[in-house]
Amino acid sequence: MRGAEKTRREREKWERRYQQAADSVFGSDPSLLVRRALPLLPQSGRCLDLAGGEGRNALFLARLGWEVVIADCALAGLVRARLAASEAGVPLQLLATDLETPVLGDPRPLFDLLLVLNYHDRDAVAGAHRWLRPGGILVVQGFALDQLGRGTGGPSDPELLWGSNELLALVQPHLRVLLYEDRLVEEDDNPAHRGPKWVVRLVAELPAAPAVAGR
Ligand SMILES: C[S@@+](CC[C@H](N)C(=O)[O-])C[C@H]1O[C@@H](n2cnc3c(N)ncnc32)[C@H](O)[C@@H]1O
Repeated sequence: MRGAEKTRREREKWERRYQQAADSVFGSDPSLLVRRALPLLPQSGRCLDLAGGEGRNALFLARLGWEVVIADCALAGLVRARLAASEAGVPLQLLATDLETPVLGDPRPLFDLLLVLNYHDRDAVAGAHRWLRPGGILVVQGFALDQLGRGTGGPSDPELLWGSNELLALVQPHLRVLLYEDRLVEEDDNPAHRGPKWVVRLVAELPAAPAVAGR
């Protein structure tokens, strides 16, 4: 949890950014990590895109036959996502919500895929196993603490950056890590970011319940 004031400022920042941008802020291509994770995913299923913004990843998956819910607090981004979905003729469920406050009560819906991309939420990552069906996949990407001061994009608040091995520690009690990177890259999701940047990427699976011997 970030505290009410920080959360409010973050929400307002994104609302403004989407409202003021003539075109989509992150472009229409899906995240590089989502493309890379495709071979590890089922062919289709239910996906929850947390802080999915303008929907570039949600749309990509919906076109492939996934049933996708985007949850985000910025209405201007969700409006763009809805427009793009209707132009593409694919269904997309939109949930306008502040993810810092619990939204979906119990029993929770379960998903085959949970995306936490370019949104720093420790609770969501640590609790991913509660949102996933057995065999479901978590995909996380964000900037690392090593990105501070590079001037090539990302938050300037250290609290919104991933520490060394932090993602591993958050998921490892429950999930099996299929891919983990913590490194300097040239390529990035945001077309406005130029130059090398330090990112963290994780793909992990909630293992299906082990078979009980003798049954
Ligand atoms: C960097 S953008 C990432 C968008 C998308 N995941 C992507 O990679 O294209 C961060 C997103 O987090 C959303 N966000 C920030 N704080 C939030 C909160 N408390 N609740 C819901 N969404 C939030 C913003 O509205 C914004 O769309």
